[in-house]
Amino acid sequence: MKYKTGIDIAINKFIGKKGALIPLLQNVQDIEGYLSKEVMSYVSEKTGIKLAHIYGVATFYTMFRLKPRGRHIIRVCKGTACHVSDANSIMNEINNQLDLSGEEDTTKDGKFTVMPVACLGCCSLAPVIMIDDSTHGKLTPDSIGKILKRFE
Ligand code: FES
Repeated sequence: MKYKTGIDIAINKFIGKKGALIPLLQNVQDIEGYLSKEVMSYVSEKTGIKLAHIYGVATFYTMFRLKPRGRHIIRVCKGTACHVSDANSIMNEINNQLDLSGEEDTTKDGKFTVMPVACLGCCSLAPVIMIDDSTHGKLTPDSIGKILKRFE
């Protein structure tokens, strides 16, 4: 199996270091976008760490993704300030507009991945979402369509 140089660099950076599996997997995920079975097998082969252990870590921590993510990441704040400002309606509207069920987080065309987050650090703008690096606040369900259209 052949992988990009970046993954080999990440493996070489962390190989043999105690407690390095999580930062190694974070590095690999940053490069690949998610942790595929193939890349976890590759890490296992190169590091000697059992695949079952790698898989166990990857599935235990919510920061790891086992499926590809969309080209744009929509973070929907579910923190207290946003929750009391009806963040659930914002999430429902995004899911409706993107035709996502509660089970799926990525659109079929691979354009968007929607994920809830605890707090985006701008509570005075509640309810807030972040799309890639841009923050959108004081939202109403009616404002969502216009924002999403900017990414067409
Ligand atoms: S609770 Fe939503 S930005 Fe802080």
